[in-house]
Amino acid sequence: MHSRLTSAFLATLLAGMATVLFASAADGVGTQDAPKHLHFYMHDAYTGPKPTTVLIVNGTGQPLKGSGGGARFGDTVVMDDRLTEGPTLASRVVGRAQGFYVTASQGDPAMLVAMNVLLAAGPYNGSSLTVMGRNNIAMPERELTVVGGTGVSRMATGYVLWKTASWTGRNAVLELDAFVYVSPAAAGA
Ligand SMILES: *[C@@H]1O[C@H](CO)[C@@H](O)[C@H](O)[C@H]1NC(C)=O
Ligand SMILES: *[C@@H]1O[C@H](CO)[C@@H](O)[C@H](O)[C@H]1NC(C)=O
Repeated sequence: MHSRLTSAFLATLLAGMATVLFASAADGVGTQDAPKHLHFYMHDAYTGPKPTTVLIVNGTGQPLKGSGGGARFGDTVVMDDRLTEGPTLASRVVGRAQGFYVTASQGDPAMLVAMNVLLAAGPYNGSSLTVMGRNNIAMPERELTVVGGTGVSRMATGYVLWKTASWTGRNAVLELDAFVYVSPAAAGA
């Protein structure tokens, strides 16, 4: 009697576990939708009529090779860069990138970037993404991380593929492709 109860209980438990495992596998498929793809350009302007960056720490040592404008170890820049749909400043504004970057390498011209991407267009208007990562500007394409978000992008994760579209002195136009995963439950959708 006792052993039959036990085996009945075990059978129920195993069936329950199977259900739970299946449910979580199914959940994984359901919520792990294709990432949302956001594509925009970022205007990092040191000079010109309306600079959007300010150098707050002038680094030390020799200018790093491949840094274009002669970035040095320790350089720290605060930015409030315009984001546009197309590569020119005249293109439609879709948001701003506010944050800072520090040249944090003594070899490569590589920066630690930490920024909030404030989105101001379409379904993302009013939401933000927080992006961090290493930006080695000598590489044709860099990969940074989406570490979070707010609004419809709440609890976002993902990555940003980051390229230099053009240089003029220290002014750069960057092309960003963000691939963002958002949980519909977290976004309250
Ligand atoms: C930073 O320091 C270098 C070397 O001392 C100097 O040439 C440059 O003008 C300084 N830049 C700024 C913005 O102070
Ligand atoms: C974004 O939202 C703000 C505040 O609600 C609104 O004023 C603005 O017109 C919106 N912009 C777009 C492009 O939807």
